This record gives sequence, C-alpha cells and structure tokens, in this order.
Amino acid sequence: MQRTLQIGIIGTGMMAHSHAIAFQRIPGIQIVACCDVDRNRATEFAKVFGIPHVFSEFNDLLLLPSLNAVSIVTSDAFHPEIAIAAAKRGIDILCEKPLALSSEQASEMAEEAERAGIVAMVNLSYRRSAALHAAKKLVDAGAIGQVRHVRAHYLQSWLVSNAWGDWKVGPQWLWRLSTGHGSLGVLGDIGVHLLDFATYPVGLIKDVQCRLSTFEKAEGNRIGPYTLDANDSASISCTYENGAMGVFQLSRWTTGHLNSVELAIHGDEGALLINLDESYSQLHICQGKHIHKAKWTVREYKAAPSVYESFVRAVRSKRNSEPTFRRGALVQNMLEACVLSAESGLIQEVRHDFR
Ligand SMILES: NC(=O)c1ccc[n+]([C@@H]2O[C@H](COP(=O)([O-])OP(=O)(O)OC[C@H]3O[C@@H](n4cnc5c(N)ncnc54)[C@H](O)[C@@H]3O)[C@@H](O)[C@H]2O)c1
Repeated sequence: MQRTLQIGIIGTGMMAHSHAIAFQRIPGIQIVACCDVDRNRATEFAKVFGIPHVFSEFNDLLLLPSLNAVSIVTSDAFHPEIAIAAAKRGIDILCEKPLALSSEQASEMAEEAERAGIVAMVNLSYRRSAALHAAKKLVDAGAIGQVRHVRAHYLQSWLVSNAWGDWKVGPQWLWRLSTGHGSLGVLGDIGVHLLDFATYPVGLIKDVQCRLSTFEKAEGNRIGPYTLDANDSASISCTYENGAMGVFQLSRWTTGHLNSVELAIHGDEGALLINLDESYSQLHICQGKHIHKAKWTVREYKAAPSVYESFVRAVRSKRNSEPTFRRGALVQNMLEACVLSAESGLIQEVRHDFR
C-alpha cells in the first residue's frame, strides 16, 4: 500500500484553491497544513478543505515533523525566500510560476534545490496539454522538417471584461499590475507560460526583441497603495537556437478572449497547431502531400498528467520531474532578456546558464 503523503500549502489566495482541489483528488494525499500572512484567509481556507494546522508564518509550517512536501502559492515576490527555506530543510517543493523576479534568484533556487537533492518543480500548468507533448515528439522526430516559424499568443481580457470580477477592487489583480508589489506584469504572469509552451517542443531561444506597454487604466495609474506601472501587453519576436523565427503576443486587454493560448509551428515539411480554447488533447496537423493544398487534419491524444500528478509521482519515487526548477530558471532567463530588450530597444541574447 502507498504511504500517505503530507502536504502543506503556503499562500491561500485564489490559485491555492486549484492546488487544494487537485491534490485532494489524488489518492493518498493529505493536506495537513496551510499558511497565509492573512491569518483569517488561511483559517477560512482550512475550513473549506478540512486542513488541521493553520499558520501565518511559513517557517512555522516548515517545522511540522511529518511534512513531505509544500506547494508555494504566494504572490510572486515571496517564492524565492520560501523555496530556499524549504529546500534547506529537505522538503520537496511545487512552486508557482514565475519562480522568481530575477534570473539571479531563480538560478539560486534551482542550485539550492539540486544541492539538497529534493524534488523541486514549477507549476507551468499548461504542460498538462497532451497535444503539446505530441507536438514535441513530432518535431523531434523530424515529422514537419526544419522548423522555420513559431507563432504563439496568450490573450486575456480581465482589464476590460467582468468575467473574472472587478480588477479595481481585488488585491489578487492589483498586485499583478504593480512592480512595487513584486509583479513582472503580463510578461511574468502569463508570458512565463507562453515562453515555456513555445520553446518546450521547438527548443531554446537564442535572442529576443520585446516591446512592452502599460496602458492607462485608472486616474493617475494608482489605486490605493498600488501604482499600476507593470506592463500589461507585450509583443516579442525572437530567434530560436535552431534558426527558426518566433512571434509571440501577450495581453490583458484582448477583448473577445478570456484566457486563450495558441501555438503554431511551421516546418518546411509540415505544420502543427494547438488551440487550448478548443482542446488540450487535439493537435491540428498539415503534413506530407497535404501541405500542397494546406489541408489540416486533427489528431486526438490520450490525456497527459497534470503538474500536480507528476509532482506527487516524483515525490513518491524521489525522482525530480519536469518542469523542474532548472527549467523554471531557464524560462526566467527568457523573461529577463525580454525586460532588458524592452528597456534598451535592442535585441537581447538569452542566457542558458545559471547566474
Ligand atoms: N500556474 C498557473 O496557471 C497559475 C494561475 C494563477 C496564479 N498562479 C500563481 O500563483 C501565485 C498566487 O496567485 P494568486 O492568484 O493565488 O494570488 P492571490 O493574491 O490570490 O494569493 C496570494 C496569497 O499569498 C499570500 N501571501 C503573500 N505573501 C505571503 C507569505 N510570505 N507567506 C504566506 N502567504 C503569503 C497573500 O496573503 C495571498 O493570500 C502567483 O505566483 C501566481 O503567479 C499560477
């Protein structure tokens, strides 16, 4: 029989609910503790999910003797300090994205986790798309030839639609708009997903050119203690290591899209397209003789495990699994190159090393 794994959740805001629901669906998992600097929020969360121990200081949660693993679901700025403390105690970690606010911090997290020999994964949650894994296998096998172009977008509209509530009164939206509250803007929030999604099947990026915009959204671009200065729209063009050209768009203003992710990969012998609005498991393919008439077919793939499921499997087997902190740090290098390019107006090389 499998032993019960005991997990603690640090940060009990919006996304923590998804973590708790996902973990409670997996047999043999007990969420034993939760923690939030807002103790009332943590107490409410514990009631909803039947969690016995509640803390307002993460170091106290890490002292629980029976703890096997933690999920770090705080706002972005606090991931590094908490992850490094957990790694030093030998506790396995699933950390939310982006790993950190800088490449320096992200690589320190990866190094610390590797030194401790723990399972340390980053919640690049779109890895649960079976179509993405199928696309990688096809590209690696040469099924679409030499990749020439990659087009991708991640489009949201929560600044102009009310589908997710009123962003002007929700701290969970306001910190995402403020560099002073530790946000890298749309780039750090959803760009991190897109950069992983668009490079996992095709390979790493050599250089980027990025434009960022921060459109006016409130009087003086301030609401209470939040200065709304973080980027909310991005256009990125890049060159892959294999010579392909990439074009990516990110926005929180794209009316008509709530949370749309799309990736198209064009090789000289075929093309692949994933549209997550349609399906996580369907891959559109135009290949072989069909390229002459641009005729596409759709293939359905068996569901892939979620990052939560992969994490639990990794903790049980004591073998780290993708997406690891090292992968998170590589994506952080891409984010940092985008920021530097936007600041300088120049093409920026992407580092593939640490620190
Ligand atoms: N993987 C995904 O698809 C996905 C989706 C949404 C959010 N996220 C990530 O999840 C994280 C949380 O986002 P959210 O939307 O839940 O934000 P949120 O503001 O709703 O929740 C963050 C919580 O962390 C708490 N907190 C802050 N500092 C803390 C600390 N030092 N110790 C304990 N608690 C602390 C806050 O009080 C708040 O309750 C972010 O990093 C975000 O990028 C990931």
